[in-house]
Amino acid sequence: MEFKEIQALIADDMGAVNALIQQRLQSDVVLVNQLSHYIIGNGGKRLRPMLALLTARACGYQGQHHIDLAAIVEFIHTATLLHDDVVDESDLRRGKDTANNIWGNQAAVLVGDFLYSRAFEMMVDVGEMRVMQVLAQATNIIAEGEVLQLLNCNDADTTEARYLEVIYSKTAKLFEAASQLGAILSGLPKDQEQAMADYGMHLGTAFQLIDDILDYSATADEMGKNVGDDLAEGKPTLPLIIALQRSTSDDAQMIREAIEQGGLDRIDDIISVINSTGALDYARSIAEQETAKAIECLQCLPDSDEKAALTALAWFSIQRQH
Ligand code: IPE
Ligand code: IPE
Ligand code: MG
Ligand code: MG
Ligand code: MG
Repeated sequence: MEFKEIQALIADDMGAVNALIQQRLQSDVVLVNQLSHYIIGNGGKRLRPMLALLTARACGYQGQHHIDLAAIVEFIHTATLLHDDVVDESDLRRGKDTANNIWGNQAAVLVGDFLYSRAFEMMVDVGEMRVMQVLAQATNIIAEGEVLQLLNCNDADTTEARYLEVIYSKTAKLFEAASQLGAILSGLPKDQEQAMADYGMHLGTAFQLIDDILDYSATADEMGKNVGDDLAEGKPTLPLIIALQRSTSDDAQMIREAIEQGGLDRIDDIISVINSTGALDYARSIAEQETAKAIECLQCLPDSDEKAALTALAWFSIQRQH
């Protein structure tokens, strides 16, 4: 199934999600409207809403709350992006200037807070305690993940395990929540709810691994983000961790310094070490394993178009170029 076919399968639901997003962005404060419409209107793949919609339908849910949950997870995602671009000092997202680049850091952080809190208002409207638990916990873990990553920054001794903990928290957790919510709405038994959560968790882990690979291997045109943002910040992502492990004295020293000091001065040399040590292939192989695990989790579901779409989304998360 192609990405376009997945989109077509849920086009009606996604139309309702987008309408709800527009409606719930409303604020009397002009800058909130301007900035939030800017970021949400600039596209984005809407992957997390897709997961919420597809898992709900694949689990047999017949109601309408999955529309709210899909909008809520996109609000939380968008809030994390606004904050992330400030923290990462990024100036390109979705092929456009970042909000912080246009309106400044203060506005981007504060509108991020608006989106988080609007998402919480919407959750309360849904009125399901389990839903609130899952989303409140996910949001909290994401924040922890970003702080954990801050601690790893400029630390050349960051291990693969510590890296995996960061990407689980900052990225996979929201994918996990989006998928688990579909199962919760459908009232699935606990073990199946857990399988759906695990599906999202593995998919999200693969997704961030690929994101970190693309940061060294794609172009800004493909990604809609600048290449080398991670290196600029001295962020020890898996490609760098593995390249460092596998290289000898001079190269190892260069990578150490790059992590400790950040900056793009030696990006070409570093990319060539990353390539010659097979670091990207290694990271990709871990992502592939995660994708395979995600797909295995779907076995508990009866066959349906939505289940096929969830399988295809797992593949998409590692084949993507943006
Ligand atoms: C970007 O997520 C942040 C990461 C977790 C890497 P997406 O790649 O899903 O962002 P959009 O919404 O499609 O722009
Ligand atoms: C994603 O990590 C962090 C979030 C969950 C917001 P990145 O910092 O790598 O995301 P991009 O590459 O800027 O989208
Ligand atoms: Mg970033
Ligand atoms: Mg970041
Ligand atoms: Mg990235």
